[in-house]
Amino acid sequence: MPAILSKAPGKIILFGEHAVVYDRPAIAIPVFQVQAKASILADPLAPPGRVMIEAHEIGLRANLSSLPEDHPLTLAIRGTQETLGIPRLPAMRLAISSTIPVAAGLGSGAAVSVAVIRALSAFLGAPLEDEEVNRLAYKVEQRLHGTPSGIDNTVVTYARPVYFCRSTGFQPLKPGIPLTFVIGDTGVKSPTAEAVGDVRILWQAEPETTEAIFDQIGGLVDKARQSLETGPAGVLGPLMNENQTLLERIGVSSLDLDRLVKVARKSGALGAKLSGGGRGGNMIALVEEGNAETVAAGLRAAGAVRTTITHLHALEVQEDR
Ligand code: PMV
Repeated sequence: MPAILSKAPGKIILFGEHAVVYDRPAIAIPVFQVQAKASILADPLAPPGRVMIEAHEIGLRANLSSLPEDHPLTLAIRGTQETLGIPRLPAMRLAISSTIPVAAGLGSGAAVSVAVIRALSAFLGAPLEDEEVNRLAYKVEQRLHGTPSGIDNTVVTYARPVYFCRSTGFQPLKPGIPLTFVIGDTGVKSPTAEAVGDVRILWQAEPETTEAIFDQIGGLVDKARQSLETGPAGVLGPLMNENQTLLERIGVSSLDLDRLVKVARKSGALGAKLSGGGRGGNMIALVEEGNAETVAAGLRAAGAVRTTITHLHALEVQEDR
């Protein structure tokens, strides 16, 4: 029996992180240059129920039964099993690999969950619909992050640009113009839960000021959506810069992020901001196509450990699973 293989992309948040946890809208796009993969092979010689998991990048080689109940892989696998109503799993080998940097704001956790849920449900002969995959991946995120908005699992599951709001769900976003982004990695690992937790402390201490900032971010997101779909494109860069200023005000930027954002702008980027939880991880810059390499080189010279150039294509749904 051939191995079942599933893939899921990384993601960047173009606008609206953090405020999205407080029910303001946000915009995210998949990043296909990085991806998580899960492959499953039947293990007919092993006893039923034995699931051997190998994930080289995180140095994991373990039996499912030896992992903690709240391990993200346990949650993804058991969640899929329960959803399909399968009491005992057949023996199998699950191999997970990922080129998405961990704790860097690129959605690595959500991508691994989505790839595992898809591979396992396909292996069990009942591939789950996107809606179910998304629901299960969200449950894993909840156990990991406490109060995730759900934007990460949504953009990674549907692998298309999304306009997302916690209470109303997501709407596919149809870009009217092609855009190029450079992603710059500070190399600083930053767990999203910590930044989200600190924003919550600020929100509790200064609710009015913080709510006002969230409202401003939500306003930027709506302007950005309009600009992405129908133009004018020229406002997008300045909107990113404004979003960055507001993220700095809620304390989720960092010296490294600030430096890379400034360097990107100096190298000719149209706008730049952190992306995701912040405090480290990645920043993004909107660039003219022809200037992408220059901005990427500027970022690397300023200390970025990795740069990735990614494109958002006009009116195109990108599928790569
Ligand atoms: O997982 P990250 O670092 O890409 O951040 C997700 C975006 C936040 O708005 C900070 C958190 C959330 O749950 O939406």
